[in-house]
Amino acid sequence: MAGVVALDLSRRGLRGVQIDGAYTNRPKITKFGAINVADGVIADGEIIDERRGAAAIKELWKSAGFSTNKVALGISNRKVVVREITLPAMPTSQRKAGLRFAVEGQVPIDLDDSILDFLPLRQSSEGGEAQHEGLLVATSRSSLEITVNAIEKGGGYIDAVDFAGFSLLRSLTSANSGTQALINIGASSTTVVIATGSMPEFVRMVPSGGDDVTRSIERALGISFAEAEQDKITRGLQGGATSARDIEAETVLRENVAALIDSIRNTLKFYNNAHPNKPIGNVVLTGGGSRLTGLAPVLTRALGLPTGYGDPLEAFSVSNKVRASGVDRWALELAAPLGVAVGEK
Ligand SMILES: Nc1ncnc2c1ncn2[C@@H]1O[C@H](COP(=O)(O)OP(=O)(O)O)[C@@H](O)[C@H]1O
Ligand SMILES: [Mg+2]
Repeated sequence: MAGVVALDLSRRGLRGVQIDGAYTNRPKITKFGAINVADGVIADGEIIDERRGAAAIKELWKSAGFSTNKVALGISNRKVVVREITLPAMPTSQRKAGLRFAVEGQVPIDLDDSILDFLPLRQSSEGGEAQHEGLLVATSRSSLEITVNAIEKGGGYIDAVDFAGFSLLRSLTSANSGTQALINIGASSTTVVIATGSMPEFVRMVPSGGDDVTRSIERALGISFAEAEQDKITRGLQGGATSARDIEAETVLRENVAALIDSIRNTLKFYNNAHPNKPIGNVVLTGGGSRLTGLAPVLTRALGLPTGYGDPLEAFSVSNKVRASGVDRWALELAAPLGVAVGEK
């Protein structure tokens, strides 16, 4: 059975899940490991320090006891560009080979520095010519280079890379009935995927996440990032502050979360205007940022939609031994990387 390690790169640490029977409909989680990394090794979902990044990869493999060096990555950061585009219909292999030329002039990005992917959604025709309407995802190649080098120097090799928005959809498959919004709130970006069943209709990256909230507390109270993070986690959205300091912290926390909710609401509104016949029925949250206490009920009210948490492990069989190693603790963070290994590659 093909084994692969789904890797989650976060500023605070590395998480890895070994999946046997990857790229099938019945993948199995066989090992899990998590390690902390120092500041400056990982930022915005990418390794930015090649040497220390490679050392961290080695450490993770050793501590988790992974028995494969294959790595699956879900890419999600502020540099990812997603656009709806239309291409002449052609076989997948041909489209893959010619994608760069086919999209020339259609997207405002440097194609020489891009890794491109296209997900066809609909067939249409224009003047008798068959066409595919779909989503183009572009990722900066050079910014990914340090990550790839670090993983290789650490002994791994990249077996699969997927845009986190699409992999998210695959790891939350059984939740997919009707049209719903999957929202992954990360550290510095938020991925919004609107899908009917397992078919994405619309994808947007919102360039802000949980760390922006922490930073606002850090600035307002003049405390360290780590202290602000602790304050945010214990405070949540419960309210009830009494001291001047707490009221200040509560206010900036609320203002910042409100700004993020506004961006999410505008994104859903934009989708609704373009797809009036496919209204969103509910919202499914993942990502560490979604752990903010009280966020789900606040979102339910702000969006006027039932909002709950996704279970990214539902597509997998998980042994008791792996459950005991703490994989559940990280399930919301692992939603995107796990999905890379679900279903056909
Ligand atoms: N209990 C919590 N309450 C509020 N925010 C949290 C909690 N746990 C984690 N976070 C936030 O989650 C974010 C990291 O989520 P993660 O999914 O790992 O992001 P990324 O994959 O973008 O690195 C951070 O901004 C962190 O502050
Ligand atoms: Mg992550």
